[in-house]
Amino acid sequence: MIDHRTLRVALLGAGSVGSQVARLLIERADELEERTGARLELAGIAVRDVDAPRDVALPRELFTTEAHELIVGSDIVIELMGGIEPARTLILDALRSGADVVTGNKALLATHGAEIFDVADQVGASVSYEAAVAAAIPIIRPLKDSLAGDRVDRIFGIVNGTTNYILDRMDKEGAAFDAVLTDAQRLGYAEADPTADVEGHDAAQKAAILASLAFHTNVPLEAVHCEGITGVDADMIENARGAGFVIKLLATCERLPAEGDEPEAISVRVYPALVSREHPLASVHGGNNAVYVEAEAAGPLMFYGAGAGGVQTASAILGDVVSAARRHIAGGVGVGESARGDQPVAPIGRITTRYQITLEVTDEHGVLQTVAGLLAEGGVSVATIEQTLSHDADGASRARLVIGTHRAREQALSDAVARLDASDVVERVVSVLRVEGD
Ligand code: NDP
Ligand code: HSE
Repeated sequence: MIDHRTLRVALLGAGSVGSQVARLLIERADELEERTGARLELAGIAVRDVDAPRDVALPRELFTTEAHELIVGSDIVIELMGGIEPARTLILDALRSGADVVTGNKALLATHGAEIFDVADQVGASVSYEAAVAAAIPIIRPLKDSLAGDRVDRIFGIVNGTTNYILDRMDKEGAAFDAVLTDAQRLGYAEADPTADVEGHDAAQKAAILASLAFHTNVPLEAVHCEGITGVDADMIENARGAGFVIKLLATCERLPAEGDEPEAISVRVYPALVSREHPLASVHGGNNAVYVEAEAAGPLMFYGAGAGGVQTASAILGDVVSAARRHIAGGVGVGESARGDQPVAPIGRITTRYQITLEVTDEHGVLQTVAGLLAEGGVSVATIEQTLSHDADGASRARLVIGTHRAREQALSDAVARLDASDVVERVVSVLRVEGD
């Protein structure tokens, strides 16, 4: 008969994710014991307010505001408070006291990951963070372990559930941005401060984590180009639909080959982009995420599923807890990160993609030629132009041009847009969107 040990588990945070993790640890205690060979005893839950209402009923006596006291003597510490401090200090203290750490905190890992992984290496403990990117979807372990012997060239996809939920409902129902953001918060998708979601910061943190793992390098968060969705309005969604596209917030991490004087580099970027309605990413609805990985030997791989939500994220957290418990039982040091280099991260101007430019122009003879000429000056070639005419209240005629370009360098494109903006024939640059996924 196996002599099962008891492992002391400390939970920091009981919000959308933490409360579900606590419930599952209690409800599935027997199953988890069978799977790990250890009784996982939930020793306590640290929160700010022990009397705050919770999503699930949990024993009152488990709650404490003394997070530091709770982690002392714990075997596994699950950090689900979010933010930088006190999460960083608590995680470092937990590792130094001999605990393995499980966290979903991408904001912390994208900014202080190197420090945390170094300490874990020094003390021989593990830090697991499957939930930090794309919630329930297994993507960290595939990159860290399964694909560690391959060469990843590109990662591309939707990694934020809140913005996908918002854009999807704006597209399907013509819903207003603010109303659907409130729904995303109610569903437990959004960060404590949803600015992180809608401004693209959360996706940028995830992109930095994915690129660091995939390319075995350190990608500082500041090097990630980041644009959010606050500038996306109903008009843009409608125009996109008319042209056969849907707007998605995309994260892309890719290798850029050496070119001329420019060395090989990587590009890590987040922005709203047009995706063909035929593309599989267009079918990623609600709070779901999808991540494509292109590796030299494996070829293209796709990971899809729930990208946010309390119970869905709890699945990834529990998977990491089971691994940490097994490690505790088996002994030995934690599985560390790959040695990481410092590959240069290219500025956004170096990427190449297609673009859709929407302009309001004067309805005069020769305007189309002038616009095409200003684009061609910088080497941006026009693929399609669609013109719609309208009349002002005073009878003046105005034209809206929707221009699709061939692939162009971002720097050439933004220089050309600056020339258009300054030109007499262009009244307004309505929008410039990148077209991705082909
Ligand atoms: P919530 O904001 O819902 O919950 C945070 C919890 O942490 C609350 O219980 C809060 O206590 C507690 N807390 C916060 N600050 C402190 C502090 N200083 N001291 C003690 N307790 C504190 O967050 P989520 O559950 O949504 O997210 C948790 C983490 O998981 C974050 O890092 C997030 O990015 C990540 N994540 C979230 C996903 C999601 O879908 N929600 C998906 C993947 C990852 P109190 O309740 O008393 O206020
Ligand atoms: N706020 C995040 C999102 C939670 O919406 O994707 C999952 O990381």
